[in-house]
Amino acid sequence: MDAVREYRPDVVLLASPNNPTGTALPLATAVAILDTAPGMVVIDEAYAEFRRAGTPSAVELLAAYPRLIVTRTMSKAFGLAGARVGYLAASEAVVDAVQLVRLPYHLSAITQAVARAALAHADHLQEQILLVRAERDALVDWLRVREFVVADSDANFVLFGEFEDRHAIWQGLLERGVLIRETGPTGWLRVSIGTPEENAAFRAALVEVTA
Ligand SMILES: Cc1ncc(COP(=O)(O)O)c(C=O)c1O
Repeated sequence: MDAVREYRPDVVLLASPNNPTGTALPLATAVAILDTAPGMVVIDEAYAEFRRAGTPSAVELLAAYPRLIVTRTMSKAFGLAGARVGYLAASEAVVDAVQLVRLPYHLSAITQAVARAALAHADHLQEQILLVRAERDALVDWLRVREFVVADSDANFVLFGEFEDRHAIWQGLLERGVLIRETGPTGWLRVSIGTPEENAAFRAALVEVTA
């Protein structure tokens, strides 16, 4: 908020849920920034489909805030990062303005066909998202029971710590066939939710490495 007041940016970009913490921004925070920012506010909801039950989307704010743009990607929940396709939700005036600067062949016909096919299977996809969310919540609980510090996650990954030597933990996991991410604040690691078998392998390896 201080930075927005000081620099008066044309665009404020917020990620919710955030990467690499995984935590969604409270709607009240988005509202406070929307009420302060002089220009456009873009909320990147790349991981929104994974948010915990009861966590609202900034899409709810669109009617009240015509300078808000909510962006989504098909790279995460749809598993289509290779297709390079996403979309935005915004007021009509914003969409019209975007159409003016959009290049005519920005999105290939093949990409559009792939995206439409994925949308047609959204119901099946929903089952996978529910599985990822359940696995994620179970992993967060499991880590907390073992006294790791865990950021609340609304994403398909979990940030946990805190380690004096996170690289040693990362290396130990790798030696046991588990590759996670050495990223985020010092002392923390980020693990992506995989299949139940992969998540079990991660838990077993972490127990060994931290023993
Ligand atoms: C917060 C956030 N937004 C957007 C993206 C990328 O999305 P896309 O594949 O559509 O460029 C990522 C990917 O890691 C991300 O973490």
